[in-house]
Amino acid sequence: MTDLHQIDPPKSIEFDDLYFSADNGLAESKFVFLDGNKLPETWLEPDRFVICETGFGTGLNFLSAWKLFEETTDPQQSLDFISFEKYPLDAEKIGLYLQPWLTFFDGRLQKLVLHYPPKIPGFHRIVLNERVTLTLIFDDINDAIPKLVADVDAWFLDGFKPSTNPDMWSDTVMENMARLSRKGTRLATFTAAGKVRRGLIAAGFFVEKVTGFGRKREMIIGCFAGKET
Ligand SMILES: C[S@@+](CC[C@H](N)C(=O)[O-])C[C@H]1O[C@@H](n2cnc3c(N)ncnc32)[C@H](O)[C@@H]1O
Repeated sequence: MTDLHQIDPPKSIEFDDLYFSADNGLAESKFVFLDGNKLPETWLEPDRFVICETGFGTGLNFLSAWKLFEETTDPQQSLDFISFEKYPLDAEKIGLYLQPWLTFFDGRLQKLVLHYPPKIPGFHRIVLNERVTLTLIFDDINDAIPKLVADVDAWFLDGFKPSTNPDMWSDTVMENMARLSRKGTRLATFTAAGKVRRGLIAAGFFVEKVTGFGRKREMIIGCFAGKET
């Protein structure tokens, strides 16, 4: 997998932080979110697989998951990808930022840009083909996640550092993650912050610190222990 990022890596104005690694965003996405959630192994069995992501940003993680899903599953299987975004980027910006991987995504980036919804707050359901649906929720995750109804199989926790963006790692988010999970639902995140680890454990997840991507020493993976009956 090559990374040909020639332009400056995209930075969030609101958080003064990068959307993905300046060294190799695509490799980071695979390492943290796909490998961290044991994909593709985890989605080989179920007919329908649901991923929920906490910050859509450029859609790099979504495109990586979409491509891998279509490459590793059977035609009767479907992927529902749900993602929150409080500060949606323009479609043109997404096209520009992910341009280095235009060929790699093999038509999917153009399709995302074409069907990207207007930046109107609320739930936007985008049927990309008969197997892949993207639900983009343009809102603060703390306001929107309590309204979500879903059976999540894997969490992509990607919302900037808890030290600069504590709202993304709030009790509301963690409690609703537990509500939307089943026993064995997996999670992965780039951070290994103690606050995140403790929050996830309190919400009922088993968590493990593993080696992080590139210069990051550690990250967290885990799974939901199950609801008390
Ligand atoms: C590290 S970036 C995500 C990168 C992204 N997954 C990608 O593939 O490009 C984190 C994202 O979370 C969004 N965000 C931050 N706080 C939020 C909140 N409270 N609710 C919803 N989205 C939020 C940011 O605007 C940003 O786009």
